[in-house]
Amino acid sequence: MSIKPLIILPDPILRQVSKPVERVDGDLRRLADDMLETMYDAPGIGLAAIQVGEPRRLLVIDLAKEGEPPAPHVFINPEILVSSDQRSVYEEGCLSIPDYYAEVERPAAVRVKYLDRDGKLQEIEAEGLMATCLQHEIDHLNGILFIDHISKLKRDMVVKKFKKLAKEKAPGRMVG
Ligand code: NI
Repeated sequence: MSIKPLIILPDPILRQVSKPVERVDGDLRRLADDMLETMYDAPGIGLAAIQVGEPRRLLVIDLAKEGEPPAPHVFINPEILVSSDQRSVYEEGCLSIPDYYAEVERPAAVRVKYLDRDGKLQEIEAEGLMATCLQHEIDHLNGILFIDHISKLKRDMVVKKFKKLAKEKAPGRMVG
């Protein structure tokens, strides 16, 4: 397993639409394991493959709290089948937008079908944090970020800040 570098806003890779996984094989499971290790290292509770530069419809989630045993979940080709009319608000963050948090309103519950790490078709009825996390990560597979769900004013401010940070960190910049 290895920790992979995270793709950070405003990298246009984050706006790519990921392609369906065609085969659940050893390579894919290795990528899922690397993503889990990368997520635990960050630390975070969810990560989509595009966030490590792999435009495949694969995401990992672990909602175990500190001190609890790990509970890794791998979702391949996840698809939302039903969203509840009832909505809930969570303060969200994203490993690709470090140190920025904002309240996002989404359906409170979703039913999602997906393939597990053995390639078996599964369905999950998710609510609470799992529902929010699944929707946030599935958004990533469609090139959507949680800041797309907040006001344009706030979003523009965040994007501007991260563009400035990226410029400051750009390699090869001549100084003096
Ligand atoms: Ni995210």
